[in-house]
Amino acid sequence: MRTLKNILFLIILIVTCGYWLGCKPDKPVDREAIKKEMEGREIKRLTDAEIMAKGEEIAKQSLNITQQTFQQALTTAVEEQGVAGAITYCNTNAMEMVKKLEDSLGISIKRVTNKPRNPADSLSGIEKEIWEAYEYAPASASGQIQELSSTELIYTKPILISAGLCLNCHGRVGEELATENHQLITELYPADQATGYQLGDLRGMWRLVVPKKTVVKEL
Ligand code: HEC
Repeated sequence: MRTLKNILFLIILIVTCGYWLGCKPDKPVDREAIKKEMEGREIKRLTDAEIMAKGEEIAKQSLNITQQTFQQALTTAVEEQGVAGAITYCNTNAMEMVKKLEDSLGISIKRVTNKPRNPADSLSGIEKEIWEAYEYAPASASGQIQELSSTELIYTKPILISAGLCLNCHGRVGEELATENHQLITELYPADQATGYQLGDLRGMWRLVVPKKTVVKEL
């Protein structure tokens, strides 16, 4: 009996050693998996508050650059090409300008509104709730960051009709918004709802979706 047990033990030992000695050297070390595991551990060490604060910082910086780009492009286009020329310019270039920034940071930047000119700018999901809060108190509202899902943060900030310049394309038809320019707009945007605004009105909001992965990398 004892010998049988010993033999069995020996067989198990040989098989196990064979496995470790024989198979292991063939199997490359999965460095990628180890790296992911380490990253995972690092994520766990960060608090939600730290991720939120850094996310807000990244969103604000990205938005500053975006707003500057938009403002500069719009002002130059109106100065150089007049309102009609600028309408076509905004139509083709508005979001192309931020594409590079989006790609480099892996974030998504959009303007959304309850009365869109471009149907792609409609409110969806949680944006509707955030919008209602801004509608309630637009003048006092600054930007805010919150959780969108377990992997993403959402940063929003109201966009007001801040200057007379906006009314050239978003004002009352036949008044600040010339009829011929309105015609051009409706040719490009048949379902346009973005007219009739006055100075100070809430026109839309910026909405940036920042993956927590992007935030963690920066911390
Ligand atoms: C030269 C005309 C023109 C001027 C001036 C202008 N816009 Fe617009 N605006 C447009 C066009 C065209 C679009 C649609 C762009 C697109 O297709 O993405 C648009 C879209 C928007 C949107 C995105 C939501 C939507 O309705 O699709 C916001 C927000 C907005 N404009 C705010 C403003 C503000 C604020 C100002 C003043 C600082 C302003 N615009 C000045 C032509 C103009």
